[in-house]
Amino acid sequence: MAVDQDRLMEFLHRFVGDLGATMAAGSVVVGDRLGLYKALAAGPVLPQELAERTGTTPRYVEEWLRGQAAGGYVQYDAATGRYSLTEEQAFALTNPDGAVFAPGAFQLALGALKAEPSITEAFRTGDGLGWHEHDSDVFAGCDRFFRPGYTANLVDSWLPALEGVTDRLGKGIRVADVGCGQGASTVLMAQAFPRSTFTGSDYHAESVDQARKKAADLGLDGQVRFAVASAQSFDGGPFDLVTTFDALHDMGDPLGAAKHVRRQLSADGTWMIVEPAAGATVSDNLNPVGRVYYSFSAFLCVPNALSQDGGYSLGAQAGEEPIRRLATAAGFGRFRRVAETPFNNVYEARP
Ligand SMILES: C[S@@+](CC[C@H](N)C(=O)[O-])C[C@H]1O[C@@H](n2cnc3c(N)ncnc32)[C@H](O)[C@@H]1O
Repeated sequence: MAVDQDRLMEFLHRFVGDLGATMAAGSVVVGDRLGLYKALAAGPVLPQELAERTGTTPRYVEEWLRGQAAGGYVQYDAATGRYSLTEEQAFALTNPDGAVFAPGAFQLALGALKAEPSITEAFRTGDGLGWHEHDSDVFAGCDRFFRPGYTANLVDSWLPALEGVTDRLGKGIRVADVGCGQGASTVLMAQAFPRSTFTGSDYHAESVDQARKKAADLGLDGQVRFAVASAQSFDGGPFDLVTTFDALHDMGDPLGAAKHVRRQLSADGTWMIVEPAAGATVSDNLNPVGRVYYSFSAFLCVPNALSQDGGYSLGAQAGEEPIRRLATAAGFGRFRRVAETPFNNVYEARP
């Protein structure tokens, strides 16, 4: 079959963009770790000045700046030789506590890619690779990747979309945040609803340690506790609200988890299930967000699920119907999608 030159060039164009983005991922993480973006946000600088302000070496910084400018992450003024950030670039690159934080996503991606040899082997053997077996950048990067979306949406739109839940949170109820990782969602909810108490749990002890530290630093000790426990065995119920944030699809026995949530929930309680945004079919997910999630899923979600009892893997792009079926099979009588954002779908399940 003859190669169509135009289609070939179109593909090569895509490939060069992807190759640049892949290498630039490392540069974004370097810029974040060294405070280069934050220093750039203060105003236009020469490479030498940026290096002085950040305690780094001018030649490295110069090369970094050029690559960043070529990728559209930094502005370059050829007349003055100075580099700067637009307001939008600064917004997305400098604030880990804001509504958008691109470096956290790249930290997660680079951390996940470190497992490439094990993942390649797992494709052959079918073995799993547990969340805990990954590089620690996966845990910190996951927290920094998801937290901005939670900051932007959780308290202001997702919780209010659940029937009667914010009223009850305001009065004071018991909440379990299952598969809480480093506790981003737990802490946000606790800060917004000081009369309610929160128990975050995750099977991964290192993440739980970080969550405890964060809560202690924020003075939330009495209101929030964290436990190392799987979703199939956490205790302390009955809870009025159980939440799972971007975690259900990672589990090898999601039905066991759903049944256990049902057992730990009060009769009039609510299970809030936050999952990656996904359409109903594979074709619906063949877009940039689907690409991000399928790729993370092959490195993180599927291997983790296959490493656990149950050995069933929903994958990060399962979409609504499989989650509805799980909730129904676990004894939840009511299920509906209550909110969606570019990165997440939010479901409410009630007994
Ligand atoms: C993608 S991370 C999300 C973490 C956190 N909820 C967040 O949104 O930042 C998935 C989490 O699920 C946890 N996890 C995976 N399988 C689990 C299980 N069977 N029981 C409890 N936690 C589990 C992992 O340890 C990891 O912290």
